[in-house]
Amino acid sequence: MIIDGKKIAKDLRKNLKNEIENLKNNIKPYLVVILIGDNTASKIYVKNKEKSASEVGIKSKVIKFEVNINEKDLINKIEDLNSDTSVHGILVQLPLPKHIDERKIISKINPLKDVDGFHPVNVGNLSSGNDAMIPCTPLGCYLLLKDTIQNLSGKNVVIIGRSNINGKPMAQLLLKENCTVTVAHSKTKNIEKICQHADIIVVAVGKPKMINKDWVNKNSVVIDVGINRIEEKGFKKIVGDADFENIKNEVSAITPVPGGVGPMTIACLLKNTLKAYKNQVK
Ligand code: GUN
Repeated sequence: MIIDGKKIAKDLRKNLKNEIENLKNNIKPYLVVILIGDNTASKIYVKNKEKSASEVGIKSKVIKFEVNINEKDLINKIEDLNSDTSVHGILVQLPLPKHIDERKIISKINPLKDVDGFHPVNVGNLSSGNDAMIPCTPLGCYLLLKDTIQNLSGKNVVIIGRSNINGKPMAQLLLKENCTVTVAHSKTKNIEKICQHADIIVVAVGKPKMINKDWVNKNSVVIDVGINRIEEKGFKKIVGDADFENIKNEVSAITPVPGGVGPMTIACLLKNTLKAYKNQVK
């Protein structure tokens, strides 16, 4: 089975749109995105975020800064947005230029407005099992899994990649569902062997087609977070961290790339913006 992230994301956006239309006041959810410098991928992501926000009735604005902005000016801007009660969500697009301390910047965002779920308060709340803003990509993966498997309790999951953006919050979400979670990474020995016995594999490492037939079994569900731009037989294309064509008939279910996790990530940003709104507008 192919897990249709495009369709599941579309349904999620439809529900969000409905809920936003039926809000009992005239205040619209409002998301502000801060984009620094000239990174092509970041510019594309931000454009997509703006477009999807407007489609569900979320107001959004992109604030652009030159690559040489100093840290203090950026922090001042974040503090202005924190105290502006018309703004419900703040997202600082990563990566940041090298002279800016990413951790410091993230820690300045009001946790209630932290639609990325990267602030230490949200990270702590997620791992304590409290209500939290949850990072968009793992939240999207989680919703795809719930759609595919429903009862996750007792499943053996291998998460490959231990980033703050995906691997670590993914582990927390699945522990909460009573999964048995293994987090593998670049220093893990025999990853392939560990994966062979997994019910679920979530992979986010940025290695094109790394997961092949030898890593999976007939019952595996593979969630592929990878987005790798490669050239094949003279054509440029985007592939995941799993070799989709090679294993799609060898596993129980798999997400395609593109059309799997990607659309869910943006839909979850919209979901988080509405959640942030509800936490602030009483
Ligand atoms: N850059 C790549 N992914 C992300 C993300 O999820 N959030 C932010 N803020 N920047 C990113």
